[in-house]
Amino acid sequence: MVEVTDTDRIRAALEAVIDPELHRSIVELGMVRAIEPSANGVVDVTVSLTTPGCPIKGHFQAAVAEAVSALDGVTHVNVYFDVLTDAEKGALQQRLGRGSLPAGALARVANVLCIGSGKGGVGKSTLTANLAAALAAEGKRVGVLDADVWGYSIPRMYGLGATRPPVSPERKIVPLQAHGVKVMSIGFFVEEDAAVVWRGPMLHKALTQFLQDVDWGALDFLLVDLPPGTGDVSMTLAQLLPEARFVIVTTPQATAQKVARRAAQMAEKVSLEIAGVIENMSGFTTPAGERFAIFGEGGGDELADELDVPLLGKVPLTMPLREQSDGGVPLVVEDPDDPAAQAVRHVARGLIALAPIASLPVLSDAQASAAEPAASPKPVGMSLPMA
Ligand SMILES: Nc1ncnc2c1ncn2[C@@H]1O[C@H](COP(=O)(O)OP(=O)(O)OP(=O)(O)O)[C@@H](O)[C@H]1O
Ligand SMILES: [Mg+2]
Repeated sequence: MVEVTDTDRIRAALEAVIDPELHRSIVELGMVRAIEPSANGVVDVTVSLTTPGCPIKGHFQAAVAEAVSALDGVTHVNVYFDVLTDAEKGALQQRLGRGSLPAGALARVANVLCIGSGKGGVGKSTLTANLAAALAAEGKRVGVLDADVWGYSIPRMYGLGATRPPVSPERKIVPLQAHGVKVMSIGFFVEEDAAVVWRGPMLHKALTQFLQDVDWGALDFLLVDLPPGTGDVSMTLAQLLPEARFVIVTTPQATAQKVARRAAQMAEKVSLEIAGVIENMSGFTTPAGERFAIFGEGGGDELADELDVPLLGKVPLTMPLREQSDGGVPLVVEDPDDPAAQAVRHVARGLIALAPIASLPVLSDAQASAAEPAASPKPVGMSLPMA
């Protein structure tokens, strides 16, 4: 039979219950309010939620019951809920180092990967578009968030024109779909080539809206195409997505690598983990089979060594990679056997193998809508033209 002294044992079992949104255990997050075992083997557990209508309540209910019932002597588990006080929420936010806790927006996204580099034009967007399509081809549910609000290029690479994404009855923005990937970009909302001036707070709100008010649904991977440089966007995203990981793109030459190292330092500063390095524009092979190291050699290996992270792959220069990007169909879709496409597919498989959360305790659509609070919250943040 369980005894009162067994609360430690029960608490240890609850370490296995992970908040799917914050990616940490409810014990670590301070969300276990009370553990009350009784002599007849019945255990009462109270979990404190961040919001009363928390859409992932059902997940906690099932996961707590499962973890505790597995213990010897437990005959039944009752799971109760209450809500964190404002002071507790404040402490939690501080511990997570973020400005605001999401209200369930990305609860069903397992892995967020930010594709960045310190420098422009190294192929971040091209690789993001192709990697996403390659992950989708591996059977993963994938979204791409184009966070380059100044120089967005994802819509063109997916052949998505000026179509405005629809708004769902729940007032969420529905991403457009192309090549098996859900896509969201500021490019869907502004006139082509219009210069958008983004001041700090506006930028923060727009990115927040892309994360919270977009109906991403259940995703295995959300890839975020970062703008060049290590500025505001990355800082904002790091704040909003403390569990995101960086993938750093570099070219093989030493100077590019220096810049990529700067991106790595930034990742460290905002304490995001680096998932790995991709070397792009890594040599060119002529149709006759002669290879030219146009941008030098070895930058990717060296950077990966220095950061002590895996080199996820080397993507060669090939003309079709650029042509397909310009034509709106990712090369991995059009010609999966092209050397660059093969390299990207190799990176995709590596990312799947390295993903800390292979498949999230993702709620099915039916479960999620059942768990959804009756009145969905109105979108927050700035009014982009669609809201
Ligand atoms: N491996 C490659 N082979 C051939 N062309 C490539 C390759 N990688 C990228 N390119 C081309 O290089 C150009 C720059 O790529 P891309 O726009 O993806 O870079 P970026 O890092 O996203 O740039 P920015 O910093 O401006 O966002 C594009 O024309 C793209 O088609
Ligand atoms: Mg780009």
